[in-house]
Amino acid sequence: MYELMLDTANINEIREGLAAWPISGVTTNPSILRKEGNIDVYARLAEIKKLCGNQRSLHVQTVSTTTQEIIDEAHFILDKLGSDIYVKIPVSAAGLPAIKALVNEGVKVTATAIYTTMQGILAGLAGAEYIAIYVNRMENNCIDPFVVISEIRSFLDGMNSRSKILAASFRNISQVTSAFASGAKGATVGVDIIKAALGMPSINAAVEAFARDFDAIHGAGQTLKKRGSAPHPA
Ligand code: E4P
Repeated sequence: MYELMLDTANINEIREGLAAWPISGVTTNPSILRKEGNIDVYARLAEIKKLCGNQRSLHVQTVSTTTQEIIDEAHFILDKLGSDIYVKIPVSAAGLPAIKALVNEGVKVTATAIYTTMQGILAGLAGAEYIAIYVNRMENNCIDPFVVISEIRSFLDGMNSRSKILAASFRNISQVTSAFASGAKGATVGVDIIKAALGMPSINAAVEAFARDFDAIHGAGQTLKKRGSAPHPA
């Protein structure tokens, strides 16, 4: 199954996105939460969780920097927000042992801050359910994210892993489609990416041309529904 998630903590964006688009989850990180200003973080995350319901996943990132603190913080997040939360943990020297320990406890983990194939391999071996790869940040560092995605994907397939590559950190539509083409099973994007995808001028130009052609048949403002309920002309 392929997935599209929203990378935001903004309630209006989440409401709009969940109502309108095929979204299977919401991802956050401390920088995304910071953009929301002076909020009560747990209250906001609880509100997002409520909007997601049982059918969509919510991914919440730890901020601790030692292994034991990351594990304790993960437990706190699960106590506060529910045991079905995906705890996002950076694949760092302190984070990887925490991922391993939490996965062994049965916690759902999204491994994050991934810039290299080796980080993805380590996250896969540790049993993270999602492996979040930072596409745009990699390109900013002259790393080809699509090579890394395909290498990690080959590794995961080779070990029959259930870990899924969740591509993240996007600035444009092309990065998203290339991530899927390279083997990502999911992408988490800002609403700007989806709006840009749907806002392409050619799409509207086509829709307007079809409307004009229908107008030419039946007069302005008509639709198949309106015509269907109108009396058939003699
Ligand atoms: C999501 O999991 C990541 O934290 C996020 O996409 C990073 O995006 P950025 O590079 O735009 O901060």
